[in-house]
Amino acid sequence: MPGGGSRGPAAGDGRLRLARLALVLLGWVSASAPSSSLPSSASPEAPFLGSAQPPLSDRCPAACECSEAARTVKCVNRDLTEVPADLPPYVRNLFLTGNRLAVLPAGAFARRPPLAELAALNLSGNLLQDVRAGAFEHLPGLRQLDLSHNPLVNLSLLAFSGSNASAPDPSPLAELILNHIVPPGDQRQNRSFEGMVAAALRSGHALRGLQRLELASNHFLYLPRDLLTQLPSLRHLDLHNNSLVSLTYVSFRNLTHLESLHLEDNALKVLHNGTLAEWQGLARVRVFLDNNPWVCDCHMVDMVAWLKETELVQDKARLTCAFPEKMRNRGLLDLNSSDLDCDPILPPSLQTSYVFLGIVLALIGAIFLLVLYLNRKGIKKWMHNIRDACRDHMEGYHYRYEINADPRLTNLSSNSDV
Ligand SMILES: *[C@@H]1O[C@H](CO)[C@@H](O)[C@H](O)[C@H]1NC(C)=O
Ligand SMILES: *[C@@H]1O[C@H](CO)[C@@H](O)[C@H](O)[C@H]1NC(C)=O
Ligand SMILES: *[C@@H]1O[C@H](CO)[C@@H](O)[C@H](O)[C@H]1NC(C)=O
Ligand SMILES: *[C@@H]1O[C@H](CO)[C@@H](O)[C@H](O)[C@H]1NC(C)=O
Ligand SMILES: *[C@@H]1O[C@H](CO)[C@@H](O)[C@H](O)[C@H]1NC(C)=O
Ligand SMILES: *[C@@H]1O[C@H](CO)[C@@H](O)[C@H](O)[C@H]1NC(C)=O
Ligand SMILES: *[C@@H]1O[C@H](CO)[C@@H](O)[C@H](O)[C@H]1NC(C)=O
Ligand SMILES: *[C@@H]1O[C@H](CO)[C@@H](O)[C@H](O)[C@H]1NC(C)=O
Repeated sequence: MPGGGSRGPAAGDGRLRLARLALVLLGWVSASAPSSSLPSSASPEAPFLGSAQPPLSDRCPAACECSEAARTVKCVNRDLTEVPADLPPYVRNLFLTGNRLAVLPAGAFARRPPLAELAALNLSGNLLQDVRAGAFEHLPGLRQLDLSHNPLVNLSLLAFSGSNASAPDPSPLAELILNHIVPPGDQRQNRSFEGMVAAALRSGHALRGLQRLELASNHFLYLPRDLLTQLPSLRHLDLHNNSLVSLTYVSFRNLTHLESLHLEDNALKVLHNGTLAEWQGLARVRVFLDNNPWVCDCHMVDMVAWLKETELVQDKARLTCAFPEKMRNRGLLDLNSSDLDCDPILPPSLQTSYVFLGIVLALIGAIFLLVLYLNRKGIKKWMHNIRDACRDHMEGYHYRYEINADPRLTNLSSNSDV
């Protein structure tokens, strides 16, 4: 039975393979059974689920990663050009960063029903140029907004309040982060960037609950007088890495809750009495002043005296003079009032112009002397004439004096008057 014998093992092999296949299939099914239940339980090992397998109960925009457990949606570096329409209603933290949004229109986050849970919105690095009136309306729980690293050419003065100018909504914002939002110079409109930002922060008193404001790295040359007047709850103000030269016209008096004020890396030269007195009047404030080009001349006397006394300036031991040259790198705290004078130490440009003026004056003087020398005969004659005239005059005067001095002649003249 060679035929049957040869057929027998072949058939047995086939059955064995089938059985193995069935076993493997069974094993795979049993092994994958617990893992297939993972998505619905939203385990901490797999918090973000791709759009490929959305949970049935929730939607997640195609370009985003959503975690209902963490109440977080991340749409990061996806070249999005607009805010996704189908954001899940549970979202509390929304990271929409590194895209190409360009424009944020009115009601960009308004949904039906509203995203009432949304508390932290990060829009940094989106090439945003235009933030329109009411861009953040219908977000009743929004506490923190980060718009940093966007070249904001047009920031509407109603960006943080409702789009209805006649009835601005109060904003729920507590933290507003606007670091590095200055557009490159050639994109700036024909108006002051500082003024535009100040107008948006004023926005009909909408930001009266704001506690933290960051405006670092914005090339601010000055602080608009009204930048801070409508922000009475401010606790933390960060203005480091700008180009502020002076604070003379800004009032801090009404910022009674202010706790920290960062002014490092600016162009401050000196602080005046008014500013120092206002800071001293704030209960809890800490001020940071490092890395400013302090000018150590007679105008610095009040500030140095104040620095030696005050507890407000955390980094006061690190403050040093930048000008004038002879004072460079000297610590402000080491200065005596005798060191602080206002010698007219001229900048080099002025020094050269003074040298030039001196040369011109010397030339004029030399020419004058030359003219005198060439004309010496005429001058001699002129001197004689003057001398003669003087002599005549003096003789006449002498004569009259003698008449007046003689009492008899005086009596005579007064009698003749009667
Ligand atoms: C917003 O996102 C940027 C980029 O990821 C990050 O650097 C920044 O710290 C975030 N802002 C906040 C307030 O978390
Ligand atoms: C800014 O707004 C002005 C006037 O509203 C408009 O002409 C300009 O195109 C806008 N610029 C940008 C970059 O959106
Ligand atoms: C704006 O608010 C005013 C005052 O509440 C209201 O009369 C007006 O209808 C509002 N305008 C719009 C376009 O909603
Ligand atoms: C821009 O400013 C200049 C001078 O400040 C002014 O003459 C010009 O009319 C302004 N242009 C516009 C479009 O406002
Ligand atoms: C300071 O601000 C400038 C201008 O916005 C920016 O280019 C630079 O990176 C900033 N420097 C630091 C240390 O943040
Ligand atoms: C400070 O507050 C008082 C009273 O609220 C107000 O009259 C005054 O104009 C405010 N000063 C500034 C500089 O905002
Ligand atoms: C600044 O204040 C100090 C102390 O209050 C005072 O002695 C000084 O004269 C003031 N300086 C000016 C310029 O008002
Ligand atoms: C400040 O002046 C006092 C006396 O006028 C002097 O003893 C002291 O050395 C001076 N300090 C400095 C740092 O010049």
